[in-house]
Amino acid sequence: MKTTKVAVSKKKLEEYSGELLVIFVAQDSDGKIIGDRLFGPMLKSLQEFKEFTGKKEEILQLYPAIGQFKGLVQCKRLMLLGLGDIGELSDLNEMFELFRTAGGSIASQCKKNKIEIVGVNIPEFKGLDAAVVGEYVTEGILLGVYQFLKYKKKDDDVYPGLKKIEFLSRADRSKIRKGVDKGNNSALAACAARDMANEPANGWTPNHFAKYAEKVAKELHLKCTILEKSHMKKLGMGGIIAVNKGSEEPPKLVILEYNPEKYTETVLMVGKGLTFDSGGISLKPAQGMMDMKYDMCGGAAVLAAMEAISREKPGIRVVAIIPSTDNMTGGGAVKPGDIITHYGGITSEIENTDAEGRLILADALAYGIEKFQPNCVIDLATLTGAVIIALGHHHSGLMSNNDRLTEKLIEAGRICGEPLWRLPLGKMYAKQIESKVADCKNTGGRPAGSITAAEYLHQFVGKVPWAHLDIAGTAWNFTEKSYVPKGPSGVGVRTLIELLRQWESGMFTEDNS
Ligand code: BES
Ligand code: MN
Ligand code: ZN
Repeated sequence: MKTTKVAVSKKKLEEYSGELLVIFVAQDSDGKIIGDRLFGPMLKSLQEFKEFTGKKEEILQLYPAIGQFKGLVQCKRLMLLGLGDIGELSDLNEMFELFRTAGGSIASQCKKNKIEIVGVNIPEFKGLDAAVVGEYVTEGILLGVYQFLKYKKKDDDVYPGLKKIEFLSRADRSKIRKGVDKGNNSALAACAARDMANEPANGWTPNHFAKYAEKVAKELHLKCTILEKSHMKKLGMGGIIAVNKGSEEPPKLVILEYNPEKYTETVLMVGKGLTFDSGGISLKPAQGMMDMKYDMCGGAAVLAAMEAISREKPGIRVVAIIPSTDNMTGGGAVKPGDIITHYGGITSEIENTDAEGRLILADALAYGIEKFQPNCVIDLATLTGAVIIALGHHHSGLMSNNDRLTEKLIEAGRICGEPLWRLPLGKMYAKQIESKVADCKNTGGRPAGSITAAEYLHQFVGKVPWAHLDIAGTAWNFTEKSYVPKGPSGVGVRTLIELLRQWESGMFTEDNS
């Protein structure tokens, strides 16, 4: 990925001489335009002509060098970007989303005009924090300009990417800088997860997860452990081994640890790293099967979040585990009716080999909890098609045995614009996965398919505060937001980062399940 430099300068608007300068325009409660002093008269006329009123997401691009501003401003293009009535925003999270979305619109404009350096004026509207604008506009732009071109060899009409964002502001630059760094860190992590997800299944195997984690560990001084197939067999990880049986590619269990010098608490994050899900012997239909290269988005999210989190250096130990394999149909493949034994001894009857995510997560959760004794565990997985039926593409599903962890995650999701919706758990659902011949079976029928999948995992977490995020509906293609281009969204990455930013020590030290 090419990196984008972000600068904060005290240059004046009229001195900015780049290709594109962005000016935010808001409205007061009567719908009257509030803009910058320099452009006041023009904005007034525009409003009178009803050409541009400053409504939310309204855009007007001007060429001042050939208009009335010739000689007054130096930039080639001016982009007026409407914010609407910002005094009306009751909720800070809405403000964050407003600027993130604005960042996304700036990104589209840059892509459209092939702009490599963009200037953004931080407005001085009443009640607006310049650091907040810096953070979320940075995040929105970087998320929005993302593209994956690695395999496009002969397309010469591509956007070469954004080299630099230059914020112009008279406010405290060191504060803005801090905001910008946060936005930059989380956006880059989400883009790293998108890069992994964009790789086809022949370009991103379990071994790629392992190699990437090793690289990150070296760079950021993390501890990295890779459990190979033989280790997993010895440890009794029957779930991962079973799913891998139809494959030519060996499985990996990737573990990354961020160990601060002093800590009292540990957070464990587990991500489904299924590099291709054919369904196995319970084969999926051909239509749409290609999308199952994205079945590793949970693993990608956890790994990328780990990168960003360890850069921010929280005083908590954070451990990421990615069980990784593909789910194939080779001659040795696990068959419907087979019985497997998970790490820790729970046996499971395989009713459908396509319900494989829970099998690899079960081993990883049980092992991670035993080994790292975490205060809380969060797993992310593209686990069920059923979550799309329940929530569509606008919320990820959240299932948890702990109200506090649920609240914290929902709040983190609100802050970062990745909404979560809780679905219930319960003994009645767990009953659906009872087996006649083993401790449980891996499917629970059509009703409440996402919840029965979560109940499967629930068996392996005991009393540890745990939340399961089913991201099957949000991990790719369907998020209609300016800062989420088509393709993998990187969902979950920023939620995890935000959860750690919002961490309150002692939250899960008592047994409050
Ligand atoms: N990876 C899929 C879930 C999925 C489906 C994600 C569609 C995104 C889009 C998962 O492994 C799966 O196949 N689940 C089955 C479970 C069923 C067999 C109980 C499903 O949802 O159909
Ligand atoms: Mn499957
Ligand atoms: Zn799957």
